[in-house]
Amino acid sequence: MSFFPNYPIQRPTRLRNSPTLRSLVQETRLSVHDLILPIFVREEGPKKAISSMPGHFQHNLLSLKEEIHEIYQLGIRTVMLFGIPAHKDNHGTSNLHDEGIAAQAIRQIKNQFPGLCVISDLCLCDYSDHGHCFVLDTPSQRFLNEDTLHYLSKASVVHARAGADLIAPSGMVDGMIAAIRSSLDESGYTQIPTLSYAAKYASAFYGPFREAAECQPSFGNRRSYQMDPANSREAMKEMSLDISEGADMLMVKPAGLYLDIIQQARKAFSVPIAAYQVSGEYAMMHAAAQNGWLDLKDAALESLTAIQRAGADMILTYFAKDFARWNS
Ligand code: PBG
Repeated sequence: MSFFPNYPIQRPTRLRNSPTLRSLVQETRLSVHDLILPIFVREEGPKKAISSMPGHFQHNLLSLKEEIHEIYQLGIRTVMLFGIPAHKDNHGTSNLHDEGIAAQAIRQIKNQFPGLCVISDLCLCDYSDHGHCFVLDTPSQRFLNEDTLHYLSKASVVHARAGADLIAPSGMVDGMIAAIRSSLDESGYTQIPTLSYAAKYASAFYGPFREAAECQPSFGNRRSYQMDPANSREAMKEMSLDISEGADMLMVKPAGLYLDIIQQARKAFSVPIAAYQVSGEYAMMHAAAQNGWLDLKDAALESLTAIQRAGADMILTYFAKDFARWNS
């Protein structure tokens, strides 16, 4: 007989006693419909594995067909497209015409599966010879904000004409949403929404992506335009500016180390919030799993669940296909 016969009255473990009960009280539930798969398409050359991102490839237009077929069969309904052009220059000219690799890939995907939602990542860095997200003044190497807005305005219309369902500018260029919104509207694409990479941090975790998209800056770094990881109020400022410029959705990037930002964004704004689990987050879990240091599936599911629990309505993740397979 205990001294405290009614103690403890609350026993939280009671609700963990069976898988059914645990499932009943589960607060966050991920579905493949919440996930967006990033894909890379190159203009020239064969399909090529990305060594730092197991299971991911630079596709060409031919292999993209098979890939999209597989993605669709797996139940994934949204992709984020990155183009890798054969020709690069300071003004990203290869992304400014209808035969550019992104435009071609968008058209091909929309012809193949009109129901697949294609988000086009809009930035200069994949198309510029210097790997920065801004047009450069030469030879001073100053970043030219207004010239970059011209590029983004033109490229957004090219992508919309190709059939992109959503335009997602990722360069952290001041005024990018306003510029893109007005050029889309002037060209008759008033119904094409924008997803702004509004809170994009200058992160070490983009490392593998730069191999994937061939956009390593040829000098310097991105700290004069991407955000300082030390700041959170600044993220709120970026996001409210983008909403006032007309952004339909906002993104926080990276995801796993920025759960506080996702949570604040969720509370502060009513637009849908996306979070990007970036290449380094993916590569890190793969590397540990290859060493037998953690279980890949458990780690991936836990990290995605945490991102959703923090408040993300949708998650860009390189695990999207794995997730779909694990759940089937
Ligand atoms: C380009 C861009 C980057 C990523 C998405 N769009 C790289 C960067 O800003 O350096 C990173 C994605 C990832 O790491 O998975 N603006």
